[in-house]
Amino acid sequence: FAFTEENLAWAHQQIAKYPPGRQASAVIAIMWRAHEQLGGWITEAAIRAVADLLKMPHIRALEIATFYTMFQLQPVGKKVHVQVCGTTPCRLRGAEDIIKVCQNRIHHEPFHLSDDGNFSWEEVECLGSCVNAPMVMISKDTYEDLTPDNFGKVLDGFASGNFPTPGPQNGRQFSAPEGGPR
Ligand code: FES
Repeated sequence: FAFTEENLAWAHQQIAKYPPGRQASAVIAIMWRAHEQLGGWITEAAIRAVADLLKMPHIRALEIATFYTMFQLQPVGKKVHVQVCGTTPCRLRGAEDIIKVCQNRIHHEPFHLSDDGNFSWEEVECLGSCVNAPMVMISKDTYEDLTPDNFGKVLDGFASGNFPTPGPQNGRQFSAPEGGPR
């Protein structure tokens, strides 16, 4: 693995934000850049390259890549990788039905690609939207207040390019002011 020239320059800018000897603080940002360069997942070679750039032990970088579910360690769907929250509040509100939709429409097993290679899914722990459980995260967006029906429409939207609007899928309004945090 080698960073593109542009990404390497960007990585050095991130490192420069931290005091000398603290360059490892930039690890998540730089690992995410490598993840994006590789198309949404990261190889062990890339994790090692990030560690070398930051002069940190390989195992420390590997710990980070394996701890945070934002990092994928194998190829995922080209269009969509669905992360279904399966923690208690979401599970009590129907996460298992959402998982069934993934199993029926994408693949029975998590981390396997759909026949067209465009979709994959996994179950993750709480993603912080418990108030609107059950929910999924796709890329950096959350889709909340899901039912099998409205989640199916979310997947249809990604499949057709008519992208769904993130947030509650049942018409519930955000309580945050316009433009403010959710
Ligand atoms: Fe699902 Fe928190 S339990 S978002």
